[in-house]
Amino acid sequence: MPSSKSSLITLTNLSAKQVGTLFSKGLELKKKFNQNPIASNHSFKGNAALLFLEPSTRTRFSFESACTRAGLHPLLLDGRSGASLEKGESIEDTILNIEALRPLFFVIRCNGDFNLNDIQKKLSVPIINGGWGMRGHPTQALLDAMTIFEKWGDLYQRQILFVGDIKHSRVVSSHLELAKISGYKIGFVAPKNFLPDVIPDGVQLFKNLDEGLQWADAVIALRVQNERHDEKSDFSLADYRENYGLNNKRLMKLKPNSMVMHPGPINYGVEIESEILADVRSVILKQVENGVFLREALIRDLMNGAL
Ligand code: CP
Repeated sequence: MPSSKSSLITLTNLSAKQVGTLFSKGLELKKKFNQNPIASNHSFKGNAALLFLEPSTRTRFSFESACTRAGLHPLLLDGRSGASLEKGESIEDTILNIEALRPLFFVIRCNGDFNLNDIQKKLSVPIINGGWGMRGHPTQALLDAMTIFEKWGDLYQRQILFVGDIKHSRVVSSHLELAKISGYKIGFVAPKNFLPDVIPDGVQLFKNLDEGLQWADAVIALRVQNERHDEKSDFSLADYRENYGLNNKRLMKLKPNSMVMHPGPINYGVEIESEILADVRSVILKQVENGVFLREALIRDLMNGAL
């Protein structure tokens, strides 16, 4: 039985060796799937509790898929609708009651008002952070990095450029942790109101998109989080698209063997034009595919006590 000590709320407790092993296992699981998609690879029995208290498509489906592939049954709470949360039950009470149903671990997506560190102390089974407010999305950073590792065979000193709404991005928060572990470099380019107040140590800030694209081994465009911007601010989607949107013309500045990524969901016509999907450097759907295998490898490591 995995214990709560194996929780993955941030990436800071992982070693470079554990991360490297996760990627190798994830890519091996993908290879086996491609050789025989209907082969049974069940290793475990039991339930996993998936609580998605905020919307999700990619993360939810890939965790459901990863659990099933490992032999575990996903118990899904998808939003508040139909749950006793609607009757006023707190999130904490919901989680404690679900723990009494004896899942082997939780995957939780929630907003920043709920504290995953606090609830973890009250549980005996681990939590995997499935996207926590603006604080982190560790499995997204891992699957992004695995996708880069898949192409290059390494991550050390690779140059990853983030474009866009960096200030509000939980994906960037987790990449800042992972970059320290795996040794890759991070660059930022964004309008001033999309940048954090303090640029983290070691991050390279670019004055304009073209300069950043010339530097990047991979460019990760971020969703403009309209819901987090004040309508009265001087922010304009048209200006953003003009100066920071990725399109075929812009990508002429990107190295021929670089990679174009996005964690999804995408605002087409804002941060990315749909023509980008046809660019051979685009691995956006490969990221989604890799999410299943990375999460399956993670679940297997969790169940085997390797985390
Ligand atoms: N990238 C990501 O977290 O997508 P979802 O919100 O669809 O899970």
